[in-house]
Amino acid sequence: MLTLNEQSVHTGNLILVNASHGIQGTPKDVLVPACGRFPEILLQRCAAALLNELMKEINGWEYIVPVSGYRSQEEQQRIWDDSLRENGVEFTKKYVAVPGHSEHQTGLAIDLGLKAEHIDFIRPDFPYSGICQTFRERAAKYGFILRYPEGKEKITGIGHEPWHFRYVGTPHAQVMAEADLTLEEYIQFIRQFPHGSRPYLTKSGSRRVCISYFSTFPEKPALDSTCTVSGDNIDGFILTDYMKEGFL
Ligand code: DAL
Ligand code: ZN
Repeated sequence: MLTLNEQSVHTGNLILVNASHGIQGTPKDVLVPACGRFPEILLQRCAAALLNELMKEINGWEYIVPVSGYRSQEEQQRIWDDSLRENGVEFTKKYVAVPGHSEHQTGLAIDLGLKAEHIDFIRPDFPYSGICQTFRERAAKYGFILRYPEGKEKITGIGHEPWHFRYVGTPHAQVMAEADLTLEEYIQFIRQFPHGSRPYLTKSGSRRVCISYFSTFPEKPALDSTCTVSGDNIDGFILTDYMKEGFL
């Protein structure tokens, strides 16, 4: 049985972290290396496991390196301060989240770069071709989204970042990729499907999945073993209910 409290709104794979919604608390899951060869670059355990499954499928770690994963508040502050000094305010606001508002502080975001002698820490090269594009095309299947796409800068508040991926889990990543929704847009979209009346229906493999939103606390819905719940980091929860195998 899942238990939720006020703090739960700020935890889970779907939390929205941006300029308007800062990070509250610390990563929920334990932090582990994103890639065995780079033990200092950390992600939440579930995100790391799925990233490695994807990399295994495409032999990705032969060509791709992790550049930045989990960052503490102090690290994000240092990156912000260094960038302000070296690159100026316009560049920094475009490519570095204000400390306390970075997805990297969740342990659910990873910057990836194409292996090279010199890698730009803030803007690593991750082209829309070759192995990087193969990674991008399969990312949603493993629960990752390209978080800051081109053309959505006004919505995300961040410049286009071809290298920054965020773990949100499945089937959410596939729904977002298919409908071309940023996390900001998806969180708004799901609010149209209140729990108990009209869930959003989708599929995950052979399983039917109902996704719904609820905010009434403490009058929370009954949650059983087929459900997972994530806070949205605003005021509510997204409930993902995996129907039993063979339902379709
Ligand atoms: N580069 C992203 C926006 C961050 O600093 O979190
Ligand atoms: Zn990043």
